[in-house]
Amino acid sequence: MLAPCTFIVFGATGNLARIKLLPAIYHLEEVGRIPDGSAIVGFSRRKFSNDEWREHVASTLKDKARGGLKNEVFERLSKRLHMVSGEMTDADSLQNLKTYIDANNLPKNLIFYMAIPPTQYTKVSQAIADTGLHQEEQGWRRLVIEKPFGYDSESAQVLNAKLHEHFTEKQIFRIDHYLGKAMVQNVLIFRFANLMLEPLWNRNYIDHVQITHSESLGISGRAAFYDGVGAMRDMIQSHLLQMLTLVAMEPPPNLDAESLRDEKVKVLKSIRPIAKRAVNAHAFRAQYGAGEVNGEHVQAYLQEEGVPAHSTTETYAALKLYIDNWRWRNVPFYLRTGKRMAQNSSVISIRFKHPPQQLFRQTQIEKIKPNWIILGIQPHECMRIEMQVKQPGLELNTHTTSLDASYCTHTDYQLDAYEALLLDIIENDRSLFLRYDEIAWAWGVVDPVIKQWDIERDYIHTYPAGSWGPPEVNKLFDRDDHYWRDALDQKED
Ligand code: BG6
Repeated sequence: MLAPCTFIVFGATGNLARIKLLPAIYHLEEVGRIPDGSAIVGFSRRKFSNDEWREHVASTLKDKARGGLKNEVFERLSKRLHMVSGEMTDADSLQNLKTYIDANNLPKNLIFYMAIPPTQYTKVSQAIADTGLHQEEQGWRRLVIEKPFGYDSESAQVLNAKLHEHFTEKQIFRIDHYLGKAMVQNVLIFRFANLMLEPLWNRNYIDHVQITHSESLGISGRAAFYDGVGAMRDMIQSHLLQMLTLVAMEPPPNLDAESLRDEKVKVLKSIRPIAKRAVNAHAFRAQYGAGEVNGEHVQAYLQEEGVPAHSTTETYAALKLYIDNWRWRNVPFYLRTGKRMAQNSSVISIRFKHPPQQLFRQTQIEKIKPNWIILGIQPHECMRIEMQVKQPGLELNTHTTSLDASYCTHTDYQLDAYEALLLDIIENDRSLFLRYDEIAWAWGVVDPVIKQWDIERDYIHTYPAGSWGPPEVNKLFDRDDHYWRDALDQKED
């Protein structure tokens, strides 16, 4: 039986709480995974009575609850919901929170969830400490920090040091919500539960790896956050590098948090540093212009509300990396991400080498296509191995067929990453959260690029919204036969 806790959400009326946290809490309630006696306290500048807050949550959940809001589930949840209004960086307001917890006899195990702008993290943790709420006298404390963790290596280090003034490493949960996605976790299962893959999973057989995250949406009104941050910091430093570590890591001795994170750190440490003069050969950035997405005209990034007229913030970024270890030496890892692209899609594509001998040269098969392993992360979760087979008929022709693992479903039921992660926080399982050294090494990988880009602010390539990005990015490829796998299904030519 898990001990009850009080889950405090700073920024309870913000975007993250509305879109992700409250629905995840509701779905955990639905499946009975919130420990009995636990409370959820919203903390927000907006003034609400508890009843108004419960109504607000109900209306937020109406279109977010899977299969519609169920009354009996909401009634159970509603009993846990509390609201404390105040200024989150102000010691008096935090004192009110403390008094409220005591007066209502809420559980003394506290989770502080920072669903707030990153610039507030240190101020809020300071305010928590000023009231003594961080002290584990009557229960445990856990502090949850969203990405981005810092803005570059130096700022991440400063942030970490500030948080450590009041919280220990064991109390800090740094979220990268990609690690909560079912298919991202499945990468580990795919690799380490299937022995047949291991002998092939290295530079002798794998030609290159691609990791793509594309979104058809633009910045969705988030100019204040996004402009100046850009795609490299927003997506590649965190989510895409995390996916890379899972593809590239050595099998850990066991699945405990430290062993897993040790192996991920080893990968990040082995990434060949990008020299300043080589930034343009390794990285590419661009910004969306006007275009058409799903049949609708959409405006350019520069026309989005709140974006400065001459912003050169990248909405698309691509990066070529090499991992200098025995397994991966000289195998390129191509990473790319973009907003306002043709489709929403996150896919890891692994291309194998050609067979050593072209046995079919004298036949109609001029060039055999290589094998690919495709791991679809979202929206279509799938695992697929593409093979060449003979086409029926008298001639010796091939076509591509694929072995699809049964995970390849187009189901409407998709567990959200936050459900898994919130439960892990409650259960104190830290395997899917980032240790600080992972974050520091990940910043080390992208730092040379973002520093160079910050200097070169006079020009940025553009791509039409609704496209797969600018063709100029192809200069990153090591060889002429490398190309981006845009869609899950490869076109037969
Ligand atoms: C967030 C980024 O971390 O991840 C967003 O800040 C991005 O810009 C989002 O849209 C993508 O997450 P998901 O789960 O929708 O793929």
